[in-house]
Amino acid sequence: MFNKKTIEDIDVQGKKVLVRVDFNVPIKDGKVGDDTRIRAALPTIQYLLDHGAAVILASHLGRPKNGPEAKFSLRPVAEYLGTLIKAPVKFAEDTIGSSAVQAAATLKPGEVLVLENTRFYPGEEKNNEELARAMASLADLYVNDAFGTAHRAHASTEGVARFLPGVAGFLMEKEIRYLGQAVASPEKPFVAILGGAKISDKIGVIRNLLAKADTILIGGGMANTFFKAQGHEMGDSLVEDTALDTAKELLEQGGKKLMLPVDMVIADKIEEGAQVKTVPVGPVPAGWKVVDIGPESRAAFAKVIADAKTVVWNGPMGVFEVPPFDEGTYALARAVADSGATSIVGGGDSVAAIQKSGLADKITHISTGGGASLEMLEGLELPGVAALQDK
Ligand code: 3PG
Repeated sequence: MFNKKTIEDIDVQGKKVLVRVDFNVPIKDGKVGDDTRIRAALPTIQYLLDHGAAVILASHLGRPKNGPEAKFSLRPVAEYLGTLIKAPVKFAEDTIGSSAVQAAATLKPGEVLVLENTRFYPGEEKNNEELARAMASLADLYVNDAFGTAHRAHASTEGVARFLPGVAGFLMEKEIRYLGQAVASPEKPFVAILGGAKISDKIGVIRNLLAKADTILIGGGMANTFFKAQGHEMGDSLVEDTALDTAKELLEQGGKKLMLPVDMVIADKIEEGAQVKTVPVGPVPAGWKVVDIGPESRAAFAKVIADAKTVVWNGPMGVFEVPPFDEGTYALARAVADSGATSIVGGGDSVAAIQKSGLADKITHISTGGGASLEMLEGLELPGVAALQDK
């Protein structure tokens, strides 16, 4: 199923290895916030060091649009990485300029070099050939371990593999195995839980999963668009009016497979201390908005989840960052954790909810990818993976 070469299939002894990682992590006041993505790349980095490679790490951070900007620098990430591994970690102030070239040339086996943000170059997102060639010239081999960015065909994720032999790192392999298997040959019943604000982000996923899953549970803001498509007035709720026709079409196509909430929590504002009511699905009064799935929906969804053998989850059930509108999301997190099913959670918000709930160790696989995990669920091949050598 995973048919790409990995770092275990090549000899890295004495080689310079350019590793694309996804170190796109939150930085606050010059310090790394959530370090999940950095830790997730450690097995690959450690393996390469243990096998005599000199490791050059490339990543983007954020979405800089005007060249170098201090707030998007990977320097804090390099410093933080130095506290996690025993090897010396150096930092180059550019990605392909003289700082990178010199540091890469003198890098020894067992050492790590972090290059500056690849997106400081406009050619990165344009998959510019010269930029890819320049990155490739720093190393002998290329490893892609940046699952979270594998859906982007950028110079550091796709272009560079045209100039160096490219293989997958351990994180990439693990992500593709779990997500790929869930979609291609899930143990049944296979239940998908989809939430979050917009249907438009998930149309491809819903279409693909309707063909594969036994049930798709829908919550979060996107449920409102389905309700409106069924003819309910949604008050001040978030509704995607441009997606109403698509919602109608998906409801027809999905039939009983597509399970919507039966009740909802509505509030007069999205803040703690707001007026809150639980109501059956129906018209929402003006001035009120849907903020969570209701208790009956939680119970009905939990029942379906309890019988599942495979569960994939992307997107929260309500405005989970504002308590108490997080209760529906937490109820489902508990249901998934208790189900004993193979469970795969992806997408920043749902992963954050799982982590906050303290149930993360009961989940089979927590993906480091947002958009990338959605594209896997959509059944697409990711360009960053396609570019790697076949086994
Ligand atoms: C992510 O955080 O999803 C990845 O790092 C990709 O970032 P991007 O959406 O800015 O390409």
